[in-house]
Amino acid sequence: MADALIQAAAAARERAHAPFSNFKVGAALEDSSGRIHTGCNVENATYGLTMCAERVAIFKAISEGAREFTRIAIVAQADSLTPPCGACRQLVWEFCGDIEVILASPAGARESMRMKSLLPRPFDATFL
Ligand code: THU
Repeated sequence: MADALIQAAAAARERAHAPFSNFKVGAALEDSSGRIHTGCNVENATYGLTMCAERVAIFKAISEGAREFTRIAIVAQADSLTPPCGACRQLVWEFCGDIEVILASPAGARESMRMKSLLPRPFDATFL
């Protein structure tokens, strides 16, 4: 089951637009109906407007009407498995809650964790 999600993230990674960092990331977010929403990082010349793969996947999913999520797989190639950046952790938490986060590499390494362990004391709408 995780294999298909990781494969979708790896395929999305191939579509990354990362001419400035050359660091390609792919994400695949599974919703509660089993549908997979993918994303890749999209960079631009201002650098600061770059969008991470995870947030592309989340925004695509939300814009398609999905509201409940079960897992996200993130694929990148580095010396160690790459966890989501702080901005992405915030949005994964707000839109997906304490879902399973699967980190994977194209070479086959993988690790699974819960979102709460990546963002132990989150700020979210429950405080508003
Ligand atoms: N990147 C992601 O897509 N996801 C992350 O969680 C970390 C970083 C992208 C942003 C940028 O295009 C490149 O990786 C280098 O930071």
